[in-house]
Amino acid sequence: SRTPNVAVLGGGSWGTTVASICARNTRTVLWSRNAAAADEINTQHTNSRYLGDLPLTDTLRSTADIAEAVSDADVLVMGVPSQSFRSVLQEVAEHVRPWIPVVSLVKGLEQSSRMRMTDIVQAVMPGHPAGVLAGPNIAREVVQGFAAAATIAMPDHGTAQMLQPLFGTSRFRVYTTTDVVGVEVAGALKNVFAIATGIGDGLNAGDNTRAMVITRSLRELAKLGTAMGGQTETFAGLAGMGDLIATCTSPHSRNRRVGIGLAQGKTVEEVCTEMGQVAEGVKTSGVVVKLSAELGVDMPIANEMDAVLNNGQPVEEAYRGLLRQRPGHE
Ligand code: 13P
Repeated sequence: SRTPNVAVLGGGSWGTTVASICARNTRTVLWSRNAAAADEINTQHTNSRYLGDLPLTDTLRSTADIAEAVSDADVLVMGVPSQSFRSVLQEVAEHVRPWIPVVSLVKGLEQSSRMRMTDIVQAVMPGHPAGVLAGPNIAREVVQGFAAAATIAMPDHGTAQMLQPLFGTSRFRVYTTTDVVGVEVAGALKNVFAIATGIGDGLNAGDNTRAMVITRSLRELAKLGTAMGGQTETFAGLAGMGDLIATCTSPHSRNRRVGIGLAQGKTVEEVCTEMGQVAEGVKTSGVVVKLSAELGVDMPIANEMDAVLNNGQPVEEAYRGLLRQRPGHE
């Protein structure tokens, strides 16, 4: 029997990387908004804007025609930023075959609705099984072929097992779970904490501070994640602790770079313009504090990040705030 056709929407660094992996395993098409980028992928097998001269799988096809990209897809993979996730999905919904699984690569929450990406899939394309692939996956290191791993979460184990061989290679190990909420929330929240870690590093706060922030971040992430319905074990896994470590420490992390820039006195807008890319944690921070307030979960680090990112609080004050005497210390 033939292997499934994969369509990946979003030609940024991670969408391109996942498409390049899938193309090793099965027929894969990548939709890029940018026709010149699609052409470069087809002819040069590179995506220079996001991944420099790193070679992509040469059988990967790319198009700027979104309807064509999805029309014969058996699996739809979403690699666009969280704030355009809904509109891109609405654009393709009528062209997509019924019932095909949708896999989100997105680590963010929708600001206007506070929804998870798989919730948006259910709302826009009801009936499609919706899940997520997440883990410590700095795109360029995965393209370079260094060992890495991720977790694919689907609502049922059978679908996760069917998808696993499409996304895995001998150097990119894919684990399966049915905890969609846990994996999705972990992926979204770690970005906020990577900004916090970046601020500490930018202020030269040192190794004790970095370890404290990462460790306490994991606690906040797990508390909100379980309150939202995720399973405790998930937060100790690749999508939880694994991605938190990678994103809080990698010099490539966009979110960590936002934190470093803030500590150097730049504005969020300045850092994001310099990078020319989206740092998901900026918008997720506001959603997280509202969700945590609704669910009665105490999240001091996330609160300080919201104050810095959305209310103009100075970064030094945020770091003092984290050390403010707090009742309980659970
Ligand atoms: P950034 O968006 O901060 O680059 O995060 C990378 C990542 O998610 C690694 O798993």
